[in-house]
Amino acid sequence: MDNWIQAGMLETLKEEGSKVIKGGIAVFYHEDQVFALDNRCPHMGFPLHMGSLCDGILTCHWHHARFDACSGGTLDPWADDVPIYPVRVENGEIWVNSQPNQKGEEDKLIQRLQEGLEQNLSLVIAKAVVALMEANISETRIAQVGIQFGTTYRPQGWGSGLTILTAMVNIIPKLDKYGRFLALFQGLVHVARDSTGQGTKFMLQPLPEAKTSTKRLSKWYRQCIEVRDRQGAERVILTTLKNNTSLNEMFQMMMTAVTDHFFLDGGHTLDFHNKAFEWLETADQAYKENVLSSIVPLTANARRSEELHSWQSPTNLVKPVEDAFKLWTDLPKIEVDENLVIDEEALLNQILSDQPIETIEYITQLLQKGYSPVHLSRIVTLAAVERITKFHTQNEFGDWITVLHTFTHAHAVHQSLIRKNDMMIWRSIYYSVVSIYLDRFLNIPAAARPSPEDTTTYSMDHEQFLHLLNQQQQVTEAGKWVASYLKKNGDVSQLFNTLGHALLREDAEFHSFQMYEAAGAEYDHWVHINSPFADRAKETLVFALTRYLAAHAPTSRTLPNTAKIAWRLYRGERLFEED
Ligand code: FES
Repeated sequence: MDNWIQAGMLETLKEEGSKVIKGGIAVFYHEDQVFALDNRCPHMGFPLHMGSLCDGILTCHWHHARFDACSGGTLDPWADDVPIYPVRVENGEIWVNSQPNQKGEEDKLIQRLQEGLEQNLSLVIAKAVVALMEANISETRIAQVGIQFGTTYRPQGWGSGLTILTAMVNIIPKLDKYGRFLALFQGLVHVARDSTGQGTKFMLQPLPEAKTSTKRLSKWYRQCIEVRDRQGAERVILTTLKNNTSLNEMFQMMMTAVTDHFFLDGGHTLDFHNKAFEWLETADQAYKENVLSSIVPLTANARRSEELHSWQSPTNLVKPVEDAFKLWTDLPKIEVDENLVIDEEALLNQILSDQPIETIEYITQLLQKGYSPVHLSRIVTLAAVERITKFHTQNEFGDWITVLHTFTHAHAVHQSLIRKNDMMIWRSIYYSVVSIYLDRFLNIPAAARPSPEDTTTYSMDHEQFLHLLNQQQQVTEAGKWVASYLKKNGDVSQLFNTLGHALLREDAEFHSFQMYEAAGAEYDHWVHINSPFADRAKETLVFALTRYLAAHAPTSRTLPNTAKIAWRLYRGERLFEED
């Protein structure tokens, strides 16, 4: 009789209609049958025994979700199926098995997440993510559902939703459990929003005879992108994949086309490529055809910055960069001298100066001497984030995104060069440098570097910091709090967790997710370097991140509120008893 609970006499239930027994199980008598269901409405936890049962349909009395009393299945997709329990009647006694028929097995939960994405229902997505995490399903596996969905149901291809989701998978090691849940939830919701109502992306087929060399296919791909031939480019990509070309070669091929033109779409195109490849590395190349073909449209359709007036006038920045390429693109491979030491401070100041031509020449000399492009791009990225640290709040609010674009592009270049030190990708270092120059007016006047006048003014209490960000226009104060925290040797990993919560508790905009992820990743690149320059670099990254998040908080927090409901429901909290 294991697991069977005595649920009273049948005759009594006939009179009462329903009752609640041990284990929070609601038992109903209806149409000569006994039904047992979880008493918590799967939508938001209202007691189902207080609902109405009519014609076999149990209706919850909070938001009127309807359930088939027999199967527990809901007629309202925004709710969820309710678990049912086996029942038997013996000698007028009712027995209910405490093990529900419907268990939260992986396939069912994955299916539920899929439905949440299809219907763009954030509460359903949140509940599926909580349940999957509690079932010990890996974060990568959960995110994989979103990647497959987003690359299938968005004909325009890879967009901000998939970028957020990949970034959120990347930041998971920086977060506590609730933060990891919020990160996955936010990423998946943005994928659903990006895809809703967009139709299906039907993939083309590879060329029939996949015997063409990768070198030739790579040339074809560049030619297709050059003339904005999206379909031709997609067939070439799928043919190259069919040839079992390695991910590394695919990356080289696609990044060459991306860097054939300057700073495509304000840096997003290169950034999205980097994210797509980061995902493929994380997920062991899952859905590589979908993923790689999804980034073709944005490459073919991208705006090319060399055509923009600001890149050509009053100073023509295009020609010096093109001239610089000629100095080394036809050379045999330049050997990188990892031991070459340079004055990093001088390089940083040069990139931030108002002498772009000299900067371009300096960069070229360093590359010719064999200075590591990875190290070079790390300093270029630092220069880009300096612009955010020095961004004055008197600027137009929308210009936070201008400096953010340059930073995330520079970061993506850095990550790309770590993955593949290819001369063609070196070109993108110049694009970052020019964009940093063009952003210079956003540091005039420059905001003061965060520094507390008196560290005793600021506690080390993270809640106090989060409380500060409940108010608008706390950019300066938040910077001072963090500066004080760092000065008092506060734990930086805890700080990143708190900053993660500061991001994820908001209805954050796309660029804020990018900011957190890029700042955290760049911080990690400096963390093992022991020098005053590296220490300052780490501090700069934290300051920039803090200032950016403070500038964009608070919001109405509707999405995080949905997440909180799902989280509390899973823990059995009684939401319906609150005001
Ligand atoms: S419909 Fe039951 S709690 Fe909302």
